[in-house]
Amino acid sequence: METIRGKVSREITFDELTERLTKHNEVSIDLGAGDGRFALRMAEQHKDTFFIGIDSCRENLRVNSRTKLPNALFVIASAQALPCELNGLASHVSINFPWGSLIESLLNDDACLLNGILRVTRPRAAMEILLNADALASAGCDLESGADRIECVLNAVGWQTTSRSDLDAESLRAIPTTWAKRLAFGRDPRAVRLRFQK
Ligand SMILES: C[S@@+](CC[C@H](N)C(=O)[O-])C[C@H]1O[C@@H](n2cnc3c(N)ncnc32)[C@H](O)[C@@H]1O
Repeated sequence: METIRGKVSREITFDELTERLTKHNEVSIDLGAGDGRFALRMAEQHKDTFFIGIDSCRENLRVNSRTKLPNALFVIASAQALPCELNGLASHVSINFPWGSLIESLLNDDACLLNGILRVTRPRAAMEILLNADALASAGCDLESGADRIECVLNAVGWQTTSRSDLDAESLRAIPTTWAKRLAFGRDPRAVRLRFQK
């Protein structure tokens, strides 16, 4: 699979990945990682977990992927075609403020995305999805009906809801992603947090 560090991309083999993962019991995948800030902050705070930030846009990842942290890796891939090297690895998946084809796939029950997430996760893995009103409006839904739809789609493929909560500007400020900060200070800070277990 294609990894990125700054401007340099490099193929990493399954064996190399396995080698990097030794000593880490937990693996967390951040899908639609954007600039990778969330994966980086999490890797700094949770040294025992290996964080893999995945985004289809390499320019977004240029700065934060330069990290030398041993427990962070950044991968260029589409969420609808997750690399098979990741099969069965993740104990946790986060999808923070999806937009574009990522949110469309969640809303439209896209088997490429849903089967891919099932494939890369372990039994009893956890998943957290943060949805914001603006991104759902661009996809033609309001916040509540969009969150309902995504919750329903995920429940139907075996992800059980463990919690659902509304987020406001203050709670967004506490979430270490670039998009959360942008939303917190923007004109529509409404968002929903969905948590699931496989
Ligand atoms: C609104 S940004 C959020 C970025 C980051 N999660 C954050 O909270 O700061 C959405 C990200 O999803 C990525 N994205 C959209 N569709 C994608 C797809 N199909 N596969 C992978 N990444 C995708 C975009 O490139 C973008 O970086």
